[in-house]
Amino acid sequence: MSIVVLLSGSGTNLQAIMDAGHPFTGENKINIKFVMSDKHDAYGLKRAQKRKIPTLSQPKLKLLEKNVTKLCKANNVELIVLAGFMRLLNPDFVKKWKGKIINIHPSLLPSFKGANAVEQAYNYGVKYTGVTVHYVDEGMDTGSIIAQEVVTINKFNSLNDLYAKIHEVEHRLYPNVIRELLKGK
Ligand code: GRF
Repeated sequence: MSIVVLLSGSGTNLQAIMDAGHPFTGENKINIKFVMSDKHDAYGLKRAQKRKIPTLSQPKLKLLEKNVTKLCKANNVELIVLAGFMRLLNPDFVKKWKGKIINIHPSLLPSFKGANAVEQAYNYGVKYTGVTVHYVDEGMDTGSIIAQEVVTINKFNSLNDLYAKIHEVEHRLYPNVIRELLKGK
């Protein structure tokens, strides 16, 4: 049972997925076949290379999608995991992989869709925000919700504190959800 990860940036969520499971026995490890990016300099690619996971970067989205499809088919990949992938996938690609692409978003959807969701929530002054894992459809952060977890914003929290709280939840939630999906739950 394996996945591919698509990312555009730092890749701390990729790191959490790579670190999940027992370090010695391999129990509950998540098998990542490839890590791909639309950005040649995404730090997430380096994280993958350190673990000897094959990587590919391709700024042209159609070409990237073509490669994802080819590699997923050749390697029996079951799940395409977006982890900070900052592009909207083309509708024909989404249709082809319907129910097999998931994303993590740093807010309680449907609130604060799109980029800068953490700042949006912080600046709005909400007292509760959180993390959502959802299936990807043709829209921006609109696919059906798989899992959510609440993060509280208290009056002492800076924006940086909120980022840290959100990341902590993401790094625990995403590997768990991926594992459950791969188990067919
Ligand atoms: C995460 O906050 C995720 O929710 C959003 O993009 C961010 C990626 O962070 N989709 P990282 O690159 O995994 O550190």
